[in-house]
Amino acid sequence: MNYAVLILALVGLAACANTSTDTNTAVASVPDPVLIEKGAKVFKYRCAACHTMDPAKRQFFGPHLYQVIDRKIATVDGYTFTDEVKQLDIVWTVDTIQQWLEKPQQLVADMCMPFTGLPKEEDRMALLQYLTHHEN
Ligand code: HEC
Repeated sequence: MNYAVLILALVGLAACANTSTDTNTAVASVPDPVLIEKGAKVFKYRCAACHTMDPAKRQFFGPHLYQVIDRKIATVDGYTFTDEVKQLDIVWTVDTIQQWLEKPQQLVADMCMPFTGLPKEEDRMALLQYLTHHEN
């Protein structure tokens, strides 16, 4: 094995890793058990009062959030969304949820969800891990 080639290959890999600008998506797409567990706690304390992760359960105050990633806003069967929210054209991706958790009112001004956001980035990342990798 030619060491020069090996080193070049390694440098190439490192350069590749650094070009990933979309850290949010990257963070959420690789399952991290520690983060998922932390996210489950964030969900329990900040979201579970109104949301469940179990689609079979009776809906709480809010719609269930099972497989919410890549779901269009206001499409959960059996939940009556407000008219304002039904008119929005948002797909819940890791990025839109992350933006919305940071500043809820900026993304969805009329959403009837009395929620002030998650100001800490580490909480948002953990919660997104949980939402992305949750399995029933
Ligand atoms: C006080 C109750 C309450 C809390 C706490 C709450 N939500 Fe909600 N949420 C709602 C309600 C009600 C709606 C439906 C809004 C509407 O129809 O206007 C909603 C809607 C949503 C939606 C859109 C769902 C869809 O199918 O389009 C997402 C995503 C969401 N909430 C995520 C969260 C997350 C994540 C948390 C915790 C960080 C959270 N919510 C905390 C009440 C709450």
